[in-house]
Amino acid sequence: MRTLIIYYSRTQTTKKIAEKIAEKLSADILEIKDKKNRTGIKGYMTAGSDAMRGALTELEEFDKSPADYDLCVLATPVWAWRPSVPISTFIEKQKENMGEVALIITQGAEPPKQENIFGMMEEKLGKKSMANLHLSTLQVKKEAYEEQIKEFIQKIHS
Ligand SMILES: Cc1cc2nc3c(=O)[nH]c(=O)nc-3n(C[C@H](O)[C@H](O)[C@H](O)COP(=O)(O)O)c2cc1C
Repeated sequence: MRTLIIYYSRTQTTKKIAEKIAEKLSADILEIKDKKNRTGIKGYMTAGSDAMRGALTELEEFDKSPADYDLCVLATPVWAWRPSVPISTFIEKQKENMGEVALIITQGAEPPKQENIFGMMEEKLGKKSMANLHLSTLQVKKEAYEEQIKEFIQKIHS
């Protein structure tokens, strides 16, 4: 199964897990970059308010197409109990090009609570995810995720 891991990461947490999953699945990887500056306190504030009002953003050009893959794994941090704005934008622009999907979220809440974030992403995508993985920032930092990753990969392969 040709697999593409697509991720956005503001502070490298989601990047770490996306790279790990890409390695385990022998998948290609695509980092989504936002043209809007999301760094520092100002970047934090606008990220939160953009997420809350459901705004989209402008993404930098990318060199891989989801249409060339059987499975897209979308990985995003949680912003204001929603998927990050760059990933929501990617979904909006590329949903027609995606086949099967699986979803990964990282979040500050400890223990992690998925709330309805996977549901929101499925709604935006217009399809069900074949596997979901949610981890807290701390779990990623401590690399305390082997069991969850194993289950996630098993679901993808089943
Ligand atoms: C603007 C903003 C809003 C956030 N809102 C939430 C939230 O609602 N719930 C939560 O658990 N974590 C929230 N977080 C924390 C991030 O989801 C968490 O630190 C994540 O692992 C960061 O991933 P990254 O390093 O890949 O950017 C927020 C972070 C930012 C920057």
